[in-house]
Amino acid sequence: MTEDPLGLLVRFLRFPTISTQTDHAEDLHQCAGWLANLLQSMGLHAEVHPTAGHPVVLARTPHDPAKRTILIYGHYDVQPPEPLDLWETPPFEPSLRNNRIYARGATDNKGQILAHVLGVRETLARTGATPVNIIFLIEGEEEIGSPSLEAFLLARRDELACDVICISDNGMAADFYPTLSYAMRGIAALEVRVKGPCVDLHSGVFGGAVMNPATAAARLVASLHDADGCVMIPGFYDAVLPLTDWERVAAEACPVTDADILAQSGAPALFGEPGYSAVERIGARPTAEVNGIGGGYQGEGTKTVLPSHAFIKLTFRLVPAMEPEKILDLAEAHLRAHCPPGVTIEIERGHSGMPYFSDPMSADGLAAQRAIERVFGAKPCLSREGGSIPILTTFKEILGADSLMLALASPDCAAHSPNENFPIRNFHAGIALNQALLEELAAVPREGIHGYRGDVPDLTAASRLA
Ligand code: BES
Ligand code: MN
Repeated sequence: MTEDPLGLLVRFLRFPTISTQTDHAEDLHQCAGWLANLLQSMGLHAEVHPTAGHPVVLARTPHDPAKRTILIYGHYDVQPPEPLDLWETPPFEPSLRNNRIYARGATDNKGQILAHVLGVRETLARTGATPVNIIFLIEGEEEIGSPSLEAFLLARRDELACDVICISDNGMAADFYPTLSYAMRGIAALEVRVKGPCVDLHSGVFGGAVMNPATAAARLVASLHDADGCVMIPGFYDAVLPLTDWERVAAEACPVTDADILAQSGAPALFGEPGYSAVERIGARPTAEVNGIGGGYQGEGTKTVLPSHAFIKLTFRLVPAMEPEKILDLAEAHLRAHCPPGVTIEIERGHSGMPYFSDPMSADGLAAQRAIERVFGAKPCLSREGGSIPILTTFKEILGADSLMLALASPDCAAHSPNENFPIRNFHAGIALNQALLEELAAVPREGIHGYRGDVPDLTAASRLA
């Protein structure tokens, strides 16, 4: 018996596939097996491939050399659900209300990738074959920066050869608004540990005579921005490419205003670099964000302590043509130069990924736009995303293929937040979109009429070395 889409989504969402927490490794393994079984039951050849980290699910339709090959990428891992007390229903017990399904991963990315899987299932049920060869690559480490995927791509480059990559892991410009994203920001992560005395000290006995590491951490954080929110790291903006003319025209057609972003954020006011709209600040400008800061007593009441250490977790979001390692070099030099006297700092680099940029007017981009128009009844707006999917530039480097980013996420999906949800109509639209997409992509001439418009930056390593 074929299980209905919603029933399958509920089962998918029950796996607590939190990739950053090692005690969930078995849950990721179980979920990968479940997914491979589903793909196998649809008639695809599906396998779970172990990696140094969480497994990759790979599935494909029988290869027909006369057809184009489309790789559909997604992830089955999720972000941690904390803070748990803010969830109206438990994060791994999917709940239906308000015509939405609530669970961690509902939008990011289980609902969106399952829509593509079920689109293929419907095409197969309807016609017995897909109009293109399909490869599903569904990984379990996207939310921790895809540490095992590059080696996996290098080892299987030939079997993963494809004409174009499709992804739904990004947001619609407005509620149920047809959207094709053509850029994602890059990312570079850094953790600073500030060290002072060997142990926590009595703040009355020593306070005033030694530097407080929490104060030092706050001073380091304060050195990152000026009062307007511009990043003060020397050289930070040097490589940033301004928006091109066609992008400004495309942005004009997008329905998002500063007031929309303010409402979605729930913050009391917007804040950021002067001279840019909120959409530009998010999509086209780089940032330095404090993701976490700590040190000293965190418990109830007061404790007169001078903490021995403090920490800062930072990520930088990058736009074309910034490079993560260069930005981390600049940031490290800046932080060392601003380290207050009386403490030492240790800096550890975390994951990083290049920004991604593609041409929405390529032959495949236009095919994706037609598919979106068929399903939503209106032409999509073309958007730059503020989030990151670092593997996209690696796909381009290793497989030579561009990525089409077909948004299914609602602006109020609460990805990474409590009460994450996916509107049921977005799920069904995604299933229909996959079918239209395969048809439109099948009709693109094999070599494509691919030609950059001349102002699309090439961000691959080859071009950076040239
Ligand atoms: N689906 C997101 C990427 C995204 C975020 C798209 C916001 C559109 C809007 C993806 O799963 C994600 O969260 N990526 C991480 C990457 C990081 C952990 C390397 C991100 O952007 O923080
Ligand atoms: Mn995510």
